Amino acid sequence: MRETAPVTTIDRDRIGELFARERERFAATHQGSKRAHERAQGSLLSGVPMNWMTRWPGDFPVFFERAEGAELTDVDGNVYADLCLGDTGAMTGHAPAPTTAAVNERLGKGITAMLPTEDAAAVGEEMQRRFGLRDWQFSLSATDANRFVIRIARQITGRPKILIHNHCYHGSVDETVANLVDGQVRPREGSVGPGPDVAETTRVVEINDLEGLERELAEGDVACMLIEPALTNIGIVLADDGYHERVRELTRKHGTLLVIDETHTLCCGPGGYTAAHGLEPDFLTIGKPIGGGIPTGAYGISTEFSDRIIEHTFWKEADVGGVGGTLAGNALSLAAVRATLAEVLTAEAFEQMIALAERFETGVAETIAERGLPWSITRLGCRAEYMFSSTPPHTGAEAAAAMDDDLDALLHLYMLNRGVLMTPFHMMALMSPATTEEQVDRHTEAFREATAELTGG
Ligand SMILES: Cc1ncc(COP(=O)(O)O)c(C=O)c1O
Repeated sequence: MRETAPVTTIDRDRIGELFARERERFAATHQGSKRAHERAQGSLLSGVPMNWMTRWPGDFPVFFERAEGAELTDVDGNVYADLCLGDTGAMTGHAPAPTTAAVNERLGKGITAMLPTEDAAAVGEEMQRRFGLRDWQFSLSATDANRFVIRIARQITGRPKILIHNHCYHGSVDETVANLVDGQVRPREGSVGPGPDVAETTRVVEINDLEGLERELAEGDVACMLIEPALTNIGIVLADDGYHERVRELTRKHGTLLVIDETHTLCCGPGGYTAAHGLEPDFLTIGKPIGGGIPTGAYGISTEFSDRIIEHTFWKEADVGGVGGTLAGNALSLAAVRATLAEVLTAEAFEQMIALAERFETGVAETIAERGLPWSITRLGCRAEYMFSSTPPHTGAEAAAAMDDDLDALLHLYMLNRGVLMTPFHMMALMSPATTEEQVDRHTEAFREATAELTGG
């Protein structure tokens, strides 16, 4: 039986003291990263190639030198158990051998030519087998896959709006950079130069709010409902039992297409959440992990809608109609996807990855209970996340309310200083086929140490 302590309150001053100490330690052991960042400030906005990289805690980000399997080495020679895995872009582990071999071979034979290769059909067949949808198309990112599917859904339904979950993330798709604020659809805080008013383009409901969903769909103007089957970008929020069955009934009843974004929820198994739970989407979008690190995105279309897309396509202008991309479906990406699906993200690999996530979950849950912390952990396949609320959140708003920026920054820095890389912006860990029990236990140990220091235990 677990030892359970009474609920513990964390002293906010203690968070600040520990953060100051860890920040100094980080600076002392990451001088190479500091120098790299100083140099980069001469030519890169904020000294980083993408602005969100400044959001890592510490005064500068870690600059990495190499990453293989689930281990990452920075320019100072610090070695990390990588539980971030490029926020799922490297869920395969870094540089997986079969993908690297296929990519190397393809590099010498031509990368992009505006023509298909034979890998394309092999990938299409495998996607079909895994996810159950018949026809596939490719993009360079999950964002683009979502963008294209939204256009297609509008085209074939003749409806203007999309519907999303509150606090979802589907990439930088204009229509999805929206949240509910006091029941109103508003641009997300920090939305950069929002264009068309999201209240005009988007309906937003909480995950698990079936009443709200029915009310919004009944307006009759929603082309598609674009959702992750569980939220994974505001902590993990799981769907209630029966939620997806009812979503499917309601979307069918109201003539709204159902789009499932499996970019992160592929963590549930080889066919993602869709195959694991028998979902029946009209479209499925995905990106990041299927290329083993090589940029790609894809969308699958159910048979019924393939015919309608073909019917609605203005073929003479198909290259400039808003769905496309010169490098989309390029030979290199497809060679990478083919090898990754065939040899890396296999059913056996998922079994092992899920068992590791269970080990991670147990270690964290036992520590939370022992220390009496009002925190919880949620696991979804080979992904797990601890949250600063005593019960797992049931909606996006609840998950957002459980965020604690100070604790989050402290724990990320604490982990970095002990050789563990967690996904930034929330406390999420992902397992790859290369992840080891020792790496999971390294996190558990650091988590035990951090929580002991926080609670004086
Ligand atoms: C569910 C989901 N969809 C789409 C995306 C966008 O992926 P990308 O930035 O690679 O286009 C993300 C990124 O985190 C995501 O989590």
